[in-house]
Amino acid sequence: MKMTKPVPKLWVLISITISFCLFILFQIHISDLIAKNPQITQQVNNFFISIASSSSSHHQTLNLTGNANESDENRAKPPEKEDTCAGRYIYMHKLPNKFNDDIIKNCRPLIKWFDMCPFMVNSGLGPQVSVSDNTTAHVLTTRTGSWYSTNQFLLAVIFRERMKHYECLTKDPSLASAIYVPFYAGFDVSRHLWGYNTTVRDELAIKLAKWLSKRPEWMKMNGRDHFFATGRIAWDFRRVSDQDSDWGNKLMLLPEFSNMTMLAIETTAWTNEFAVPYPTYFHPKSLTEISMWQKKVKSVKRRYLFSFVGAPRPKMDGSIRGEIIKQCLASHGRCKFLNCNDSGGKDCDNPVKIMKVFQNSVFCLQPSGDSYTRRSIFDSILAGCIPVFFSPGSGYNQYKWYFPKDYKKFSVYVPENGMKNGTVSLRNVLGRVGKESVLKMRNEVVKMIPKIIYVKPGLVGPEKIEDAFEIAVGRVLERVTMVKRMMEEGKDLQSEYSQIRDLKKLE
Ligand SMILES: *[C@@H]1O[C@H](CO)[C@@H](O)[C@H](O)[C@H]1NC(C)=O
Ligand SMILES: *[C@@H]1O[C@H](CO)[C@@H](O)[C@H](O)[C@H]1NC(C)=O
Ligand SMILES: *[C@@H]1O[C@H](CO)[C@@H](O)[C@H](O)[C@H]1NC(C)=O
Ligand SMILES: *[C@@H]1O[C@H](CO)[C@@H](O)[C@H](O)[C@H]1NC(C)=O
Ligand SMILES: *[C@@H]1O[C@H](CO)[C@@H](O)[C@H](O)[C@H]1NC(C)=O
Ligand SMILES: *[C@@H]1O[C@H](CO)[C@@H](O)[C@H](O)[C@H]1NC(C)=O
Ligand SMILES: *[C@@H]1O[C@H](CO)[C@@H](O)[C@H](O)[C@H]1NC(C)=O
Repeated sequence: MKMTKPVPKLWVLISITISFCLFILFQIHISDLIAKNPQITQQVNNFFISIASSSSSHHQTLNLTGNANESDENRAKPPEKEDTCAGRYIYMHKLPNKFNDDIIKNCRPLIKWFDMCPFMVNSGLGPQVSVSDNTTAHVLTTRTGSWYSTNQFLLAVIFRERMKHYECLTKDPSLASAIYVPFYAGFDVSRHLWGYNTTVRDELAIKLAKWLSKRPEWMKMNGRDHFFATGRIAWDFRRVSDQDSDWGNKLMLLPEFSNMTMLAIETTAWTNEFAVPYPTYFHPKSLTEISMWQKKVKSVKRRYLFSFVGAPRPKMDGSIRGEIIKQCLASHGRCKFLNCNDSGGKDCDNPVKIMKVFQNSVFCLQPSGDSYTRRSIFDSILAGCIPVFFSPGSGYNQYKWYFPKDYKKFSVYVPENGMKNGTVSLRNVLGRVGKESVLKMRNEVVKMIPKIIYVKPGLVGPEKIEDAFEIAVGRVLERVTMVKRMMEEGKDLQSEYSQIRDLKKLE
C-alpha cells in the first residue's frame, strides 16, 4: 500500500447539539449525572477494544536520530515498498510562536506561587538528577542519566518534543490521519488564573480557535481529526460562566475545541477528553534500561506496609487526608509519611526522597487532593508500589488507555466513605492482603511501568518502547478513524463527543 488513506470526498455534516442545556446541567452537578445513553457508550467502548486488540500487531521500527526540529518534519518519506507509517501519519500545525514558545519564554509568571523556570530545561524533562552521591545511586541505581527532576505540569512541552521526533510525522497534511496542535494551553491558562479577568484568560484560546478554523486542514473533518495535549487538569478549561470569580478559562467549551480530541493529565466527564499519565522522573532511552529498572523494583526489600507522600487538605472540604495522616502516624512504623507541608514542600520536589519512600513501601496511598488525580499515582507505579485508590475518579475512570480494566489486578480500592466515617483501618485492610495477592498485584504494577512513562525524546534506539506517548498517539489515531467512519456513514457524533461519564462510579 502506498498512500495512507483516501481523502474523504463525502462526509456528512452533522450538527452537534452540545447545547446550553448540557452546560446548565453541568453547572448544577456534573458528577451526579450518569451517562445519558449507556448503550452507545458500551458500543463505542467495544469498538475501541476491538480495534485496540487488532492494532497491537503493528510492527514499527523506530529510527530516531539526533535533534529533530520542527523544520525537519519529513523524515517519514513515502518509502518504496511497504509503508510502515500507513494510517499513522500525523501533521503538526505550525502555530505562531505566541501559542507555544513565547508563552514559556517568560517562565517566571507561569504559576503564581512557583518558579517554573528551572524545570523548562532538557525539552521539559527538567534538570538531570546527578547520581554522584551514594543515596541517589542506591535509590535510582542507574548511571545512565535517565532521571530528571520533572515537574508535574510539563506534559505539553514533553509531548510536543516527542511529536517532533514522531516517526510518522508528515509535512503533507493531505497524507495525515490526524493533526496535532502544539498549543501550550495549560501554561496559557495558569499564568492568568490569579488576578485576571475572564477576557484576558480566554483571549489566546479564542484566537487559536479562529486561527485553526480558517485553515484548509480544518475543513476536511471540521477539526474532528485535530488533537492537543495539555499538562493541566481539564477543569481549568471549563469555566461555566463569565464571572471573574469563576475558575479557569473556557477553552474546552469553545465550539472548535469541542470538535477536537483533548488529552489532559486529568479529564472531566466529557467523552472527547482522554486522560494521559502525568510525567514521572524516569525518562529512559532503551528497553534494556526499563527492564533493569523493573527487575530492581520487583526484588527490592520493602520496609513499610504503606506510605503517604503529600500534604494535608482542609477537612471542611471533605478531604480524607487528615484521617490518612492520622492513621499513618499511629501505625507503629508500618506506614511512612513524607510530609509535603514540611520545609516548604522541598522533600516532595526531590525525586530521590520520593522514590526512596515508594520503593520501600508495599502500598502507596493516593487520596485525591485539589482535584481527583495526582502525579504521585505514577511515581508509585514507577516504584513498583501498589496504589491504593479512594475514588474511582482518581484512576480507574481516568487512565483507561493505560490501566488494566480489572482494577483489582493492580490496586486496592478503599471507598472514601469508609475513611470519612472512620470505619476503615488502613493497617488492617492492607495488612490482610495475602502475600500471593501482593506479589500478583506488584507484578502487574511493574508490567505497567513502560506504559506510564515518557521515554527520552529523540534518543530512542532500535528497541521499540510503547510508552505513554506512543499509546496516546495510537489511540488518537484509532479514534479519528472511528469518527471518520461515523461521519461517512452519516452517524450522529453527539454521543461520541458530548456524553457525560460518571467519574465517581465504579463500572
Ligand atoms: C537510521 O537512519 C539513518 C539516517 O537516515 C541511517 O543512516 C541508518 O542506517 C538508519 N538505521 C537503521 C537501523 O535503520
Ligand atoms: C533545525 O533545522 C534547521 C533547518 O534545517 C537547522 O539549520 C538547524 O540546525 C536545526 N536545529 C537543530 C537543533 O537540529
Ligand atoms: C559511598 O560509597 C563508596 C563506595 O561504595 C564508599 O567508599 C564511600 O565511603 C561512601 N560514602 C558515603 C558517604 O557513604
Ligand atoms: C480585563 O482586564 C484587561 C487588562 O487588565 C482590561 O484591559 C480590560 O478592560 C478588562 N476587561 C473587562 C471586561 O473588565
Ligand atoms: C464541529 O463539527 C460539526 C460536524 O461534526 C460541524 O457541523 C461544526 O461546524 C464544527 N464546528 C466548528 C467550529 O468547526
Ligand atoms: C502546614 O504548614 C503551615 C506553614 O508552616 C502551617 O501553618 C500549618 O499549620 C501546617 N499544617 C499542617 C496540617 O501541618
Ligand atoms: C461507612 O462507609 C462504608 C463505605 O461506604 C459503609 O460500607 C459503612 O456502612 C459506613 N458505616 C457507617 C457506620 O456509616
